[in-house]
Amino acid sequence: MADTARRVTRIIAGQATSDGAGVRLYRVIGGQALPELDPFLLLDEFVSDDPDDYIAGFPEHPHRGFETVTYMLAGRMRHGDNLGNSGLLEAGSVQWMTAGRGILHSEMPEQEDGLMWGFQLWVNLPARNKLRAPRYQDIPPADIPGLTLAGARLRVIAGAWGEVQGPVQDIDAAPVYLDLELDPGAILAVPLPRGHAAFVYCFGGELAIGDGGAATLLERRRLAVLGDGDSVRLAAGTAGARALVVAGQPFGEPIARYGPFVMNTREEIMTAIEDLRSGRF
Ligand code: CO
Repeated sequence: MADTARRVTRIIAGQATSDGAGVRLYRVIGGQALPELDPFLLLDEFVSDDPDDYIAGFPEHPHRGFETVTYMLAGRMRHGDNLGNSGLLEAGSVQWMTAGRGILHSEMPEQEDGLMWGFQLWVNLPARNKLRAPRYQDIPPADIPGLTLAGARLRVIAGAWGEVQGPVQDIDAAPVYLDLELDPGAILAVPLPRGHAAFVYCFGGELAIGDGGAATLLERRRLAVLGDGDSVRLAAGTAGARALVVAGQPFGEPIARYGPFVMNTREEIMTAIEDLRSGRF
């Protein structure tokens, strides 16, 4: 089969909202415009140098049935859970947390001023693994491979770029998670597995997606949903561009969702609520 380039099928604008104890953020997936993009359930960007926007953090809350992925660009977040796990997410680190059957955790800024900037992505689990044991992959910045190409720098967090493998392993959605920085005018073809759902989220500058005259402009704080294909062509604007390129295998299963619980049926949601109430998390 000939290689085909992916094209943009939808553009979604991040919506300003707040979550946790009042953290201001931009919700891109998981809001009204794009409730989910199977296997992805949520994408938030939090960015502010005003402590009032982030200092209240995310006090203890539960998760069941999916994975949360926190990627920090700037600032520090302290993580702790009811199973005794704790850690500090520093700038450039990623935490891939498989909540599975359930955890109760808190995510709190460990700074009183300065820039806090990062992303949280929620990735679904298939029915067979929704109640698996919780697991963490805490990846320090030095363990995320960086590549320098013509006019582009990228970090491979999950998936592969040629021979370079990202450090996050053994995830059901077989994800690709790339952080790209393009110089002004730089062009980059990003390989993506055929059949994966995929998106590009621009968090700096702007870029054109697709070939020549058929390219679609993506501005900052907007997400492009991609159609299927083997790769996507990105061309940075005159100020360069920063973007996440993320892809994952869709599960094609029913989604029953209630706040921090994502299961397949309403009955399973009721069980999750009862298990939390009864202290079984
Ligand atoms: Co959480």
